Amino acid sequence: MSRHLITSALPYINGVKHLGNLVGSMLPADVHARYLRAAGHDVLFICATDEHGTPAELAAREAGLDVAQFCAEQHEVQKDLCQRFQLSFDHFGRTSRPQNHRLTDHFARRLKAEGFTEVRTTEQVYSVADGRFLPDRYVVGTCPNCGYDRARGDQCENCGKQLEPTDLIEPRSAVSGSTDLEIRSSSHVFLLQSRLAERIRAWIDTKEDWPQLTRSIAYKWLDEGLEDRGITRDLDWGIPVDPDDFPEVAGKVWYVWFDAPIGYLGATREWADDRTTPEQAGALFDSWWRTDRGATDVTYTEFMGKDNVPFHTLSFPATILGSGEDWKLVDRLKSFNWLNYYGGKFSTTDHRGVFMSDALELLPADYWRWYLMANAPESDDTSFTWELFGEAINKDLVGTFGNFVNRTVTQVVRHFGEQVPEGGEPGDEEAELAARVEARLTEYVGHLDALEFRKAAAALRALWAEGNVYLENREPWKTVKVDRDRTACTLRTALGLVLVHSVASSPFVPATADRLRDAFPDVVEVPLCLDSGLGAAAAEVLRPGATLVPPPLLFRKLDAEELDAWEQRFGGAESAPTPVPEG
Ligand code: 2FM
Ligand code: ZN
Repeated sequence: MSRHLITSALPYINGVKHLGNLVGSMLPADVHARYLRAAGHDVLFICATDEHGTPAELAAREAGLDVAQFCAEQHEVQKDLCQRFQLSFDHFGRTSRPQNHRLTDHFARRLKAEGFTEVRTTEQVYSVADGRFLPDRYVVGTCPNCGYDRARGDQCENCGKQLEPTDLIEPRSAVSGSTDLEIRSSSHVFLLQSRLAERIRAWIDTKEDWPQLTRSIAYKWLDEGLEDRGITRDLDWGIPVDPDDFPEVAGKVWYVWFDAPIGYLGATREWADDRTTPEQAGALFDSWWRTDRGATDVTYTEFMGKDNVPFHTLSFPATILGSGEDWKLVDRLKSFNWLNYYGGKFSTTDHRGVFMSDALELLPADYWRWYLMANAPESDDTSFTWELFGEAINKDLVGTFGNFVNRTVTQVVRHFGEQVPEGGEPGDEEAELAARVEARLTEYVGHLDALEFRKAAAALRALWAEGNVYLENREPWKTVKVDRDRTACTLRTALGLVLVHSVASSPFVPATADRLRDAFPDVVEVPLCLDSGLGAAAAEVLRPGATLVPPPLLFRKLDAEELDAWEQRFGGAESAPTPVPEG
């Protein structure tokens, strides 16, 4: 048994997440957590809402709510959706909680003590009409490079050119549209990342097992020269800077990307505080995060979309390394490409695509979990279409998995009643099946260990298919007329495989797995480990005569009409945004 700390990138508070967000971090992290638990390991799976920054402020303003109240409400909305998607977080916290405030203050203080901060004066865009400084991306105007009229102050979306807000022609505020903008100076704390670059490089050099995508992103930034970074902002909403530590910037808040990753620790501390006495919570928290206080045997795995990689390979490690304390750094980092919606982007602001709340209105979580993970955007961006969705459900879940379970249970109940059939001895075909199941499980577990989710899903699908092949060969519906013992043995073997499926499928389709497990009340308490020996263990514990409670139909077929109707409702190919003209 080993110890695993798992974090998913923290979802922004500004709205319900779409399926692209879900498959890029929270869902694969959950599959991994469920796999490790099923394999018998000690897992701590942490997530939280990322609540600070301008997007939260603007979303609250749009909703006509005070920011704190908006965040409190949205946190509950997201928490509920995560539960309904069966995301098995040990804790789903909030970056706005006092635990995160304290840790953020702590890291800022440590960084200052180690000489990695400096207060500098910067020139910033101030909107007179809005009465506030505007972060770069809230200044919009015409791109000096390509003439696109909605370029943002940090980058032109059309030609990709990196910009300064002052480069824009006819700049205006994205908040109010006002053109009454001024440049004003403002002091900010800078994190001296340039001084930490070599230590970060040396650390990344040790990560030879990281995927190429992750390492190349990190090295690109290092090779270009890691720049010092402003880590405070002129905003009202955020973690206030402690004026005793940084009097020059009193009244300002920490930058959201400074406090958000510290939120992984903050949420862990919330978990510890909820579980134990104040005296013991610190030690419990440390045992997961401090390598000098018990966390040396912890493997820490992070999940995120590719846009988050620089923050997790460079900036957050700079915070950790610069603290001069022995905090845990990430061991394994899994990043994802984009899931698109019909070739265009899913968009929270334009409400384009399918959102977690919409999805659950249509079908139970397992349908979505399976489709999303079996088609996860691992090596490339992938595109959601209703056609592919229907195909994955109808072929894999209904035609392969559901069909095998349904046929097996129906035959057992019809001919032997609601119990595991007695009689007959396993022969060559059962031995061959056992060998194939073991090989499939070995392959499956290998892909799960390697965080290769599409390959794991394909191996699981192949495992499901073994049952159908076996039934087709043994034809219990025919043999029952002539050889009852042989039929009993066939169906007992098939039920053993149903039990294997219930354990093996649990990372991907946990609700279905639970329903299958409930079919065997006599073995419900028996621990079965998700490893290559699962097939043999299941056959062993499934005693003849044990009770079988027929499970309800696992999945229903999706017909072309309803898929069409959903495509109409959510928009299909015709809803893809027209690309803006180049040049
Ligand atoms: O990109 C995002 O959705 C961010 N909210 C992720 C933050 S991850 C972590 F660092 F908090
Ligand atoms: Zn441009």
